[in-house]
Parts: sequence; C-alpha cells; structure tokens
Amino acid sequence: MEKKSFYITTPIYYPSDKLHIGHTYCTVATDAIARYKRMRGYDVMFLTGTDEHGQKIEEKAKEAGVSPQAFVDRIVTGEKGVKDLWKLMNISNDRFIRTTDDYHVASIQRIFRRMYEKGDIYKGAYKGKYCTPCESFWTESQLVDGKCPDCGREVHDAEEEAYFFRLSKYAKPVQELLESGTFLEPASRVNEMINNFIKPGLEDLCVSRTSFSWGVPVDFDPGHVVYVWVDALSNYITALGYLNDKYDDYARYWPADVHIVGKEIVRFHSIIWPAMLMSLGEPLPKKVYGHGWLVINGGKMSKSKGNVVDPYVLADMFGVDALRFFLLRTFPFGSDGNFSNELLISTINTDLANDLGNLVSRTTAMVEKYFGGKLIAEREEADGDAELIALTAKVRAAYAEQMDAFQLHLALEEVFSLIQRANKYIDETAPWVLARDESKKPRLASVMYNLLESLRVALVLLTPFMPETVGKALSQIGADESERSWDSTERFGVLPAEVQVHRGETLFPRLDMAKALAELEEREKAANGPQIKVEPVLPEVSIDDFARSDLRVCKVLKCEAVKKSKKLLRFELDDGTGTPRQILSGIHEFYEPEALVGKTVVAIVNLPPRKMMGLESCGMLLSAVREVDGKEELHLLMLDDSVPAGAKLC
Ligand code: MSP
Repeated sequence: MEKKSFYITTPIYYPSDKLHIGHTYCTVATDAIARYKRMRGYDVMFLTGTDEHGQKIEEKAKEAGVSPQAFVDRIVTGEKGVKDLWKLMNISNDRFIRTTDDYHVASIQRIFRRMYEKGDIYKGAYKGKYCTPCESFWTESQLVDGKCPDCGREVHDAEEEAYFFRLSKYAKPVQELLESGTFLEPASRVNEMINNFIKPGLEDLCVSRTSFSWGVPVDFDPGHVVYVWVDALSNYITALGYLNDKYDDYARYWPADVHIVGKEIVRFHSIIWPAMLMSLGEPLPKKVYGHGWLVINGGKMSKSKGNVVDPYVLADMFGVDALRFFLLRTFPFGSDGNFSNELLISTINTDLANDLGNLVSRTTAMVEKYFGGKLIAEREEADGDAELIALTAKVRAAYAEQMDAFQLHLALEEVFSLIQRANKYIDETAPWVLARDESKKPRLASVMYNLLESLRVALVLLTPFMPETVGKALSQIGADESERSWDSTERFGVLPAEVQVHRGETLFPRLDMAKALAELEEREKAANGPQIKVEPVLPEVSIDDFARSDLRVCKVLKCEAVKKSKKLLRFELDDGTGTPRQILSGIHEFYEPEALVGKTVVAIVNLPPRKMMGLESCGMLLSAVREVDGKEELHLLMLDDSVPAGAKLC
C-alpha cells in the first residue's frame, strides 16, 4: 500500500546572526513531530532552510566588510553555523533550502511574474521616510523620536516606485479560511489575526524595492528586488520543485500538512501566504501552527540585550537528547515559556535521572542480579499486573492523540505517567523480597518482564524526542529492531520470554544544581570569549588616496611625560631623515615613557603640524585600538628592531 504523505516545515531562518536556543526550540519540536510521523508509517517530507535576502543582511554584510553572499555562507555553512547546529541537534530534515539557491531564485521570478500577469501585482509608489546618508526608507513607526533609527539624523518624505500585491482583494477569502475549521492553531491566534489585521482592513502589500539590491531581481523590471517575505514564503513550494526542475515532489507533498512557525510570523503565514497561493491558483496548506517563544525573565532573547542562550554550550554540557527533551517537556508548545538554567537542570534531574534513568537502571540491574541477565520462561501473573498493562495501552493511545494535535508536552506527560507507574510497581511488588524465596522465581520473572515491557513501550514513545539515548536504553533492555516500532507497542508481551538484558552506562547522571550552574556559567563565558567591539569597515578609498599617507618606521630616541597633562607623551624620533621629529601622543595611560625608548614604531609623518599643551606635534604614531568588554585597549604599533628608521610602509 502506498504510504500517506506528510509535509512539515519550519520557518527558514535569517542568517543574520548565530542561531540561539529559541530557534533551536522550533526546529527540535518540528523534528520530533516529523520523527513521530515517520514512526507512524507516513512518507514524511521535513523541510528547513535559510532566508538569506533582504536589507538587513545587506547592511550586516556591509558592516562586516564582505559581500552579502560571503556573509550568509559563513553563518549557514561555516563552523558552528546553521547546518552544523541542526546536525548536532540530530535534526532529521529531508531537505534544506537556501533562498539564494539558483533554482529558488528562478522560481521566485516566475511566481512574481505569474501574479503580475494575473493582475494581482501592479506598479505604484512606496511612500515613506527617507534617510539620505543611510540611503534607507523607514515607515513612520520605525522612526525613533521622528529621526532615522540607524544614525539619528533627520528624515524626509519620499517615494519610490514599487510593485504592490492586491492583498485587499483576498481579505474575504482569507477571513473565511481563518474562521473555517482548524487552519490556524492554537485557536487563540485566529481572533488575533482577524481583530488586528483583517478587521482594520487589509491594505495592498508592497512587494518590491529599489533602494537596496540584495534580493531576487524582478526579471521584467531590473532594479526592483522582490520583497523578502514573498521570496521567503515561497520556499515551501519551490523546495518541492514548483516552477523549477530541481525537484519533482510538488504533486506528492503539496499542500503542506503543517507549517510550524513562531507566533510573530503567524501573520505572514496565515494571511499573506494563503493570499499568494490563491492568486497563483494553488492549494492552501492544511494548517499553520503558531508556537510561543522561549523568553528570559519574561522578555524576548536578543543579542542587544545580551541574553541569548547558546545551544552549543547546553548540548555540550548536558547532551543533545537531554536538551531536546527539556525543550519539549517543559514548555506548552502553543504558549511562551520562561527559559532558565535552573529549570533545565531540575528537569534533567527529576524526569531523566530520577524517573526514567532509575527505571532503566533498577530494572536491568535486577534482571542481572536475580537472573544473570536472562529471564526464565516460566511466569506467574498476579493482581496488580493488569493495571500496569492496561495503563500501557491507555498511554499509547493518549500519546498518539496528543502528538497528532502537536501537544508535545502533553504527550510526554502521558509517557511519564507510565514511567512513574512502573517505578511504583517496583515498590509494590518488592522484587528483593521475592528474590529471597526460590519458589517465587516465576513471580519475580513475571514482575521483571512486566517492567521491561512497559519500559519498552515508554521508550518507543520517547524515540522522536531522544533518538540516540532511547536507542541505547532499548538495547539495554534487550529490544531488537522489530521490538522498537510503533506497531510493536500495540500489544503487551512482545519481548521474547527469555529476554537478555545488557546493563550499560548510566543514561542520565544526576546533577548537582549549584555545581552545574557554576560550570555552565564558566562554559558560557568561555564560549562567548571577550566581547570585542568590531568597528564597521569604512567606505572604499582609492589606492592613490592611500598612497598619499606617508607612513614610516621611526626609532624612539626620547620619550617623556608632558607636564600638566595626564595623557600626553612627548616623543623624539629618528625618522631616517637625520632631523629628530617631535610627536605628541595621548597614550600615557597605556605606557610608561621609559619603556618606549629604543622601540621601533610607525608614524604618519605628513600630517599638518598641530600644537598641544604649547608643544608642536609633527605627525601621529600608529596604534591598534579596540574595545574589549566595554573598555578601550590600545597597543602601540611596534616592529621588529631590525627594521631600519625611515623605511616606508606601503
Ligand atoms: N526568516 C523568517 C521566517 C521566514 S519563513 C518563510 C524568520 N526568521 S527568524 O530566524 O527570525 O526566526 C525563525 C523562527 O525562530 C521564527 O519562527 C521565530 O518565531 C523563531 N524564534 C526566534 N526566537 C525565538 C524564541 N526566543 N523562542 C521561540 N522561537 C523563536 O522569522
């Protein structure tokens, strides 16, 4: 029988900075759902990727002094970049799209043209506030105190030619879509969309810009680049081969079963995206699920607040699976969740070390101790077994229901109710008492078997969340491949009667809260390194301009503090001309004058002379300056003493 398809996506990430734990949360959640659906026998397509165009990226690249493509390449494919992070987190995406991929760019041009030819895109004028020095358009609401948010200078009214998408035309069908069935979940987000965006009136959307160039060019009107959200949203279909030859899966997977997105981008996915698809005459996705944010002390994580949490540090210290589990067990998927290191450590201790880890280690230890690792075939059932067996079946069904509704934390809650019940079953049956009496061996074997079986079912259900560790635990309890599938959990009693366990390493060691917190702080500090403020690269100068600066090597003949000045040092330098040169330099707070005598330094010698504290300075010494952790550091440029005075720098 042909498998049913299931197409699931995450948002494609802006590679403007390194990804943090909030981004990781979304992708890990999507991964758990995708793995669950595969386990249920679906033909899954799980797509993720990066959204690489737009003004923000163009500006960041400029600041870094590299091309936008080089800039995004570093963050997407470079060390500890987006792709590395998903590999580390064991993300099982089937495809990874970059919006700079040629096939996607070509599709976007065709999509834009299609909507234009249909009459849904028309040319108009984009009105806004313009900052001339920054060459940037701003909307009224983006201004800070009526001024440019980037440079703080005056802005003026301006217009630029732009294309618009007739979003207003689709207001009614989009509203109907939002109100019908379960297109947008959680349901609370539907009213938010209708009240905040549809009811006030949907305006046509500006879908091209001419004031920057890092985007997909409109092929029939070069100079215009396609609005980044039109480019980005379309990734969900271009990655299947829509209007391109790269892939051929559109018929197989579209419409998507679910787009998993963060709450702030629900608007784009539940209003603009369906309207675009209506315009293209394509089927609509079946569902958009808007999850909440991970927040810190109630506020959003952001680089400027300095509170972003690095997933690499956490995964390295606690293990990938513990981190995946924590994210999905702790926070209800549809709402915001307050992230803290304490919560992470206590969840690992309570659920993983105490409940799950203990159940695995106690059970396998007892089978080893009482049966040499291999159970005997004779069994003796007793009262109390039926309850555990019935609970196992109930949990499996409830888990499936919650997973199908993307209530990941509730699905885990179910599994843990079984794990806790199994731990209690140990206390109730007291195997150590049964073990004292040889005639109770069949009963003891039965208790052990029931534990292994309920544990096996719990572990299979945990596989989408902690694939690696669960695999190890299933090996410890002696489950082979055929005893790890979803179908194998339908019935209690699948493990062979004489199952062989292999006690192994402790899966989740218990953590000491204070020690773990202190170590984490150290690791975070080490990972961040010193915060060095990097100045943006200045605009280009010609080689001739540069060559007009006369930079030469000088030897320090004399150096002394200038009287009544805290900062100035007076240098007498041999610049190779035979006449000593006097230069004043404000570096006393970094150097004692005596230490500099005899050093080989570099000066620019053709600056106009300048008077300071009554003394003439004929040039300037070169230093390397940077801001580290908010404090200025200065290093006078010094060369090897073998370089002679008067040598020119070029
Ligand atoms: N590029 C767009 C998406 C285009 S989809 C066609 C974008 N990128 S993003 O990198 O800024 O964000 C990607 C996803 O990460 C969003 O769904 C966003 O909600 C999510 N998160 C970013 N910070 C988050 C938290 N602190 N917590 C949870 N998710 C968060 O938006």
